[in-house]
Amino acid sequence: MVNMIVLLFIPAFLFYGQLTTVKGDCNRKLENALFDDLIQMMLKIKGSGSSGVDHFPKGKDFPAFTAYKVSTQALSTGEVIKFDQVWTNNGNGYDPSSGVFTAPLAGLYHFAAVVMSVSDATLYLSLYHNNAKITTSYITDKGYKTGTFDVVLTLKKGDKVSIRSRQNSQSIFSNSNNYSTFSGNLIAM
Ligand SMILES: *[C@@H]1O[C@H](CO)[C@@H](O)[C@H](O)[C@H]1NC(C)=O
Repeated sequence: MVNMIVLLFIPAFLFYGQLTTVKGDCNRKLENALFDDLIQMMLKIKGSGSSGVDHFPKGKDFPAFTAYKVSTQALSTGEVIKFDQVWTNNGNGYDPSSGVFTAPLAGLYHFAAVVMSVSDATLYLSLYHNNAKITTSYITDKGYKTGTFDVVLTLKKGDKVSIRSRQNSQSIFSNSNNYSTFSGNLIAM
């Protein structure tokens, strides 16, 4: 389908180019604008095709988020950490009300998080890809401690990534210093 349309459009464009050249007084800007339009049309056709291949997103559509917490959250087993504030949420893949990132596009993604314990308490969390545990942070002993997550994952469109509690009766600490953060971004498609 795409190939057929390209085969039809390219000769049509070249023919148009010939005509304007013959006329002599051709307008370069108009030609460039037409060529841009043609490229945009081809990209749109490719993006909406049944191949499932999305074109590489740009600017505000490029999936990238950093969320953070300004308060402590009490957790039970399996509960998702709600990083309920956002600094960046391009592509709107991250939902600050649930704490879950949903991939708007298939691709390779990087995720990182910093999580702080309540003073002298244990904090035991895992990062999940859909319902599979991927990596774990276990911080224990005296004082306020930070744990970190750092993974690169291949996601399908609609796959979910979240950080969840591994045990009952624990809390993740944060306050207006924004100690606990969760970030993710597309790297490649
Ligand atoms: C926490 O984030 C808010 C919102 O961006 C910012 O105004 C504030 O300065 C941050 N606090 C610290 C200590 O970085």
